[in-house]
Amino acid sequence: MAKIKSVFVCNECGYESAKWLGRCPSCGAWNSFFEEKIAKDSTSSNGGEKKKTVIPTQLNKVVGNEATRMSTGFRELDIVLGGGIVIGSLILLGGEPGIGKSTLILQICDRLKTDGTILYISGEESAEQIKLRADRLKVNRENLLFLGETDIDIIEESINNTNPKLVIIDSVQTIYSDEISSAPGSVSQVREITARIMKICKAKSITTIIIGHVTKDGNIAGPRVLEHMVDAVLYLEGERYFSYRILRGVKNRFGSTNEIGMFEMEGLGLREIENPSSVMISERDDNPSGSVVVASLEGTRPLLVELQALTSQTIFGFPRRTANGIDYNRLTLLVAVLEKKAGLNLGNQDVYLNVVNGIKINEPATDLGIILATASSYRNIPISNKLVAIGEVGLTGEVRNVNLIEKRLKEVEKLGFKTCIIPESNKKYLKDKFDLEIIGVKNINEAMRGAGLK
Ligand code: TYD
Ligand code: MG
Repeated sequence: MAKIKSVFVCNECGYESAKWLGRCPSCGAWNSFFEEKIAKDSTSSNGGEKKKTVIPTQLNKVVGNEATRMSTGFRELDIVLGGGIVIGSLILLGGEPGIGKSTLILQICDRLKTDGTILYISGEESAEQIKLRADRLKVNRENLLFLGETDIDIIEESINNTNPKLVIIDSVQTIYSDEISSAPGSVSQVREITARIMKICKAKSITTIIIGHVTKDGNIAGPRVLEHMVDAVLYLEGERYFSYRILRGVKNRFGSTNEIGMFEMEGLGLREIENPSSVMISERDDNPSGSVVVASLEGTRPLLVELQALTSQTIFGFPRRTANGIDYNRLTLLVAVLEKKAGLNLGNQDVYLNVVNGIKINEPATDLGIILATASSYRNIPISNKLVAIGEVGLTGEVRNVNLIEKRLKEVEKLGFKTCIIPESNKKYLKDKFDLEIIGVKNINEAMRGAGLK
């Protein structure tokens, strides 16, 4: 007999509670708790069949194969996955609605180097809609099957019948299981669906890609519950009104994490960008004030991006701080450091900061760039457009060392820059020679002097 248990689950993070709560104690979201009924099979805990005994294996006697991979046909995607899709793995691809997940997947279907069948299951679009898109993307693969279905039982049957090499679920939020009473897309549904798919596909070594929509603050509904189940988690991000898209690996059981791949959304789908840094800084004006290039590290790859700052007198009341593409709190902190340690009077100035091309960077090594761009705008003195700034800034205004400095400098040199301001502590231990003027600085005042702002 099934006994019904009910729990309240936070739809943002998956936190469970026995009673309803107004605010989630785990992620802090308001009004995010929904009641979900869980059918608990009472026979599973007692009185069930006797389970068979198994003996643990000695690990060093296990003969393991090197993970076999297949190329996706996209070099950028292969990098993010650590050299291609591992056969039999389960990948979660997240991203905001409309960012290009279905487009990317359809293009992978075309380029994937495998001769097996691909089963594309969509709960969002009809076969005609997918066909229209496939025509536009010039996808014309023989053994690409489509199934427009949302019931997991039918999906399971179809996977068993067609025996595909790759299964695509677009999206996990639209698929439901009868056994769970809550609506599709709720945490327990999403969790159940992923677990079911994992069970079906792992048993047959079918590679699976599950698409999941993320909410505004970057969470897939019930994200943590999904992330630990799957082998790799990729996020496709970017601003909807910009054409650049970044594919970020945040978890990978078969390779390094934090790798990124860069794409551009065009009329014919996503195109990979061969040399991201040169694209990111291609539209730089001659020498405007308030702009500087930083060398951020995305995964193991350096990426040069332009930061722009604008300061303007506060007209009324409280000074505004606006950060686009970097953390807001980081900006307010660095503005405070500039005030206190460099004597800039920003208390009556609005400060706007923007990372060009709508990309997001979240790396401390860009701190020095934020400081210099803001100071340059405030003083109205341009920084040379052949200069790059690298360094983390501490609360006392000191410039702290960053990791993998040589990799960053190589990229700076490659793109034809002349000068690079780096932390003194990094400069001391530089092994390689670069065709650059390298200025080592200990604090933000020295950096401002190096950039000609003092
Ligand atoms: P889509 O893949 O449907 O997004 P998701 O599955 O993440 O919700 O992408 C939709 C957007 O991509 C849509 O706004 C139009 C744009 N797009 C192009 O610019 N070029 C194209 O060739 C295609 C197919 C889509
Ligand atoms: Mg879609």
